[in-house]
Amino acid sequence: GGSDSAGDSGSGDDSGITTVADGTLTVCSDVPYPPFEDFDETSESGFKGFDIDIVQAIADGLELELAVKDSSFDALQSGQALNAAQCDIAASAMTITEERKAALDFSDGYYDSQQSLLVAEGSDIASIDDLDGVKVGVQQGTTGKAYAEENATGAELVSFPSDAEMFQAIKAGQVDALLQDLPVNINHQDQGGFSVVETYSTDESYGLAMKKGNTALVEAVNEQLSEMRDDGTYDEIYNSYFAT
Ligand code: ARG
Repeated sequence: GGSDSAGDSGSGDDSGITTVADGTLTVCSDVPYPPFEDFDETSESGFKGFDIDIVQAIADGLELELAVKDSSFDALQSGQALNAAQCDIAASAMTITEERKAALDFSDGYYDSQQSLLVAEGSDIASIDDLDGVKVGVQQGTTGKAYAEENATGAELVSFPSDAEMFQAIKAGQVDALLQDLPVNINHQDQGGFSVVETYSTDESYGLAMKKGNTALVEAVNEQLSEMRDDGTYDEIYNSYFAT
């Protein structure tokens, strides 16, 4: 609509952005995907994680309230949720890819990631060459699934809608390995009983996804990201999850 339509955020900032709910930055995320997104009953938004802190800082900078909605990753990466105006931003550890750029607009990259293989401690599987005939859990619609399809051709891929279901399946012995983003497999390793045995240098960069053509919001988000990098907020958030 026009710049003064009822849909305007009207929140006092002069960025000219429009949000799906007045005065609110509505963010869709596939939760849990720790350390990027997780449930947290003690926090105001009901959620926590690296992505949640990043979008909270963006909402603060734009003088908007933050609302987070748990969503299916596949609906986020395909553009479906954003096109249906369910949210303004998808913040879901989502890799910027050429294919997705056809359906979505992305912010500048805000986190670098790789793929990896997780197995139970004591497993015979030591590398991607050991996966012939092995059941490998992957998440629907992800770059990890695409990587496995291309590089673990002898494996029996089992596709799950969420990481929570994948992790449950490896715990139950229904799959023998999980191929997915390194930080999330490391997070599982940290719970005990599982090891990351191999890392794949896919050089992925996570971006915040927005509805295709929402240039005003993309620009406002990039401006917030760059301010966050300049004033130390980004490092503060980064170090609270990925301290070295
Ligand atoms: N980075 C991977 C991708 O973009 C996986 C992201 C999964 N995110 C999630 N919240 N489940 O395909």
